Amino acid sequence: HRHLLGIEGLSSSEITALLDLSEEAAKRGRQVDKKRDDLRGRTLINLFFEASTRTQSSFELAGKRLGADVMNMSIPTSSIKKGETLIDTAVTLNAMRPDLLVVRHHAAGAVELLSQKVDCSVITRATAATEHPTQALLDALTIRRHKNRIEGLIVAICGDILHSRVARSNILLLNALGARVRVVAPSTLLGAAVDRLGVEVYTSMHEGLKDADIVMMLRLQRERMVSSLIPSQREYFHFYGLDYDKLARAKPDALIMHPGPMNRGVEIDSNVADDARSVIREQVEMGVAVRIAVLQALARHLPNQ
Ligand code: CP
Repeated sequence: HRHLLGIEGLSSSEITALLDLSEEAAKRGRQVDKKRDDLRGRTLINLFFEASTRTQSSFELAGKRLGADVMNMSIPTSSIKKGETLIDTAVTLNAMRPDLLVVRHHAAGAVELLSQKVDCSVITRATAATEHPTQALLDALTIRRHKNRIEGLIVAICGDILHSRVARSNILLLNALGARVRVVAPSTLLGAAVDRLGVEVYTSMHEGLKDADIVMMLRLQRERMVSSLIPSQREYFHFYGLDYDKLARAKPDALIMHPGPMNRGVEIDSNVADDARSVIREQVEMGVAVRIAVLQALARHLPNQ
C-alpha cells in the first residue's frame, strides 16, 4: 500500500504484520541505540487541521527516530486563514516534494481526496466520521501485550460511538482479528452505521460490560454536537461514566482503556482512570511504536531518491 487511510482494506495478515513490526519497535524503544535510518533523506509533513497532542507528537517522534526531516505545519498560522482551500494547500506543500504527508481533517472524505491530488504517501491521523487507523493499531498492540491474543476477547467500546473515528477503526480491526465487539452507548450516540459493522449493541453499561475482557471508554465529543442535544455531564456520568460499580461487571482482570484526551468525571471516574488495570499511558507509549512501524512499512513503497 502507498497510503494508510483506514483499517478498511487491510487484511488480517497485513494488520498482524503491522502489529509484529510495532512490537519490534516497542522493544527497540527501550534500548539506548534507537536511531534508525529507514527514512534518512526523506521529508515528512504533519498537516493537522484539528487539535492533537498524542497523534501529532508521536508521528513527529516516530519520523525523527527513523531519520526523516519532520515539519509540523501549523494551520492556524497558515494561508488557510486567508481563504486557501485544503486541496490548494496540499498541492502547494506537494510542490516542496515531501515523501509523506500525515493529515488530520474534520471533513469526511477530505484526506482521501487529498491523497488523489498529491504524489507522496498519505497517512490519515483521523478524519471525522471515518477512521483513525493508527489508534486502532496501538490499541490492539496494547491489548495483545497483556492478553497475548485478540481472538475471542470480549471488547466493550463505550460512550460517544456516533462521533468516534476511534470506535470505527477499532471495530474494523478487532472484528478482523476475531474479537467479540460490543458497543455501549445511549441510543442518541450510537449512530445508524453501527448496525452494519457486526457488533453487539447495548444501551446499558451494566449489561454491556458483563464479562468484558476490555473496557474501552470514549470521550464525549461535545464540540461536534448541537448545543441543545449535549447531555448534562452529571447525568451522562451517572449512566455512562465508568466507575467502580459498573467496572465490577467486567472480568476481574479487565483492561481499562481510553484513547485520550480524557475528560475525568464525564466518561470516566478519575480513580478508575488511574487504577492498576488502566493501560491508558501504555496506549500512548505504544502509539510511538505503531507510528514507527507504519512509517517503516510505507518507506518500502517510496520511490527511490
Ligand atoms: N487519541 C488521540 O488521537 O489523541 P490526540 O487527539 O491528542 O492526537
